[in-house]
Amino acid sequence: MNPNTPLLAPSTADGDLAGKHIVLGLTGGIACYKSAELCRLLVKAGATVQVVMTEAATQFITPVTMQALSNRPVFGSQWDAREPNNMPHINLSREADLILIAPCSADFIARLVQGRTDELLSLLCLARPMATVPLLVAPAMNREMWVHPATQRNMAQLQADGAVMLGVGTGAQACGETGDGRMLEPAELLEDVVAFFQPKTLAGQRVLVTAGPTFEAIDPVRGITNLSSGKMGFAIARAAREAGAEVTLVAGPVALATPRGVTRIDVKSAQNMLEAVIPSAQQATIFIATAAVADWRPAQAADHKIKKDGSGATPQLQFVENTDILATVAQSARALSGALFCVGFAAESQNLLANAQAKRARKGVPLLVGNIGPATFGQDHNALLLVDAHRATELPHASKRILARQLVAEIAHRIS
Ligand code: CTP
Repeated sequence: MNPNTPLLAPSTADGDLAGKHIVLGLTGGIACYKSAELCRLLVKAGATVQVVMTEAATQFITPVTMQALSNRPVFGSQWDAREPNNMPHINLSREADLILIAPCSADFIARLVQGRTDELLSLLCLARPMATVPLLVAPAMNREMWVHPATQRNMAQLQADGAVMLGVGTGAQACGETGDGRMLEPAELLEDVVAFFQPKTLAGQRVLVTAGPTFEAIDPVRGITNLSSGKMGFAIARAAREAGAEVTLVAGPVALATPRGVTRIDVKSAQNMLEAVIPSAQQATIFIATAAVADWRPAQAADHKIKKDGSGATPQLQFVENTDILATVAQSARALSGALFCVGFAAESQNLLANAQAKRARKGVPLLVGNIGPATFGQDHNALLLVDAHRATELPHASKRILARQLVAEIAHRIS
């Protein structure tokens, strides 16, 4: 894991799953203890959650716990008389927007592959309308069970049958061994579920995002930076990933966790950022420059800490201008040929429209996104002004998460 991450947990905005009804299936595995937290996160994100447990799952965690967290009675038996028609497999599967099995044991994967119906959970998976109710599976098992050809064969078959595999984590296992097969963490599963519902408007695209401030060293202990938190850029990287793109995020020094599925390159100075961006831009189809890149750096960083000499004299720093990363990429052959769509940001303190229009022309980009820097640095909310060659479009005050999705939709519309 990158030593710079995760410093802050990813914050999933409340309401990401508003209006969604999720059947959360638990099968027998020690990872059931994580499903309690997962249930809480799904509910917090706005979903209604119907928990269904296998007999084996109840050995690991009680239905009482899951009922309390989901605020609904838990189902376990296909003979549950609480349902007026006594058909919980039909009723529960018809209500669902999605069925998530977490944890999904090796045995339960095998049962799904065989289409067995000996418990309510496998029965309702078989009975689900496949065209409208997706099945997401979060496997959890010992590493040897995970790599066993039988499991891998079953997994491949289950995917071929239309289920979505969410992958597994790596690390220490409850059995004392270390390897692949742990259930993904609740926060990761939540991100996957939220992403699953987003339209895949950037499928097949390769998106490069810069984010955060840069740090320009004066000496080994001091430097010049700015108040950018990186939150907008990270939200955009995440939204692009949710929209189906392959995403590379070049991040200045920020305390944010990497959005799931995003490749992160950590940099410090503007020069480091330029060096990371240039090769990545050769592969990208969309470049979104949200970073607050320092305009200048000290001409010479001192090798050792600059000390006071007692006379009261202040150091005389000389500055040189940093290369404009966005303008450089926007003038590359790839961008000029239309293979790379460039989006700039403008952090202004006043005259947003005029400044954004002027900056768009100066940077040579088709789309520039203006925002009032001092009002948004470090905040979770923002308001954006999109300026292209024809018009200015306001994206009103909202969470950065929502604005990022709106911006991604605007970009997808422009490149389609
Ligand atoms: N940018 C960049 N490299 C730089 C400076 C800026 O890539 N050396 C990018 C930013 O990531 C942003 C856009 O250019 O997408 C505008 O950045 P901003 O700081 O608002 O503008 P400046 O170019 O610094 O212009 P000014 O100082 O006049 O506001």
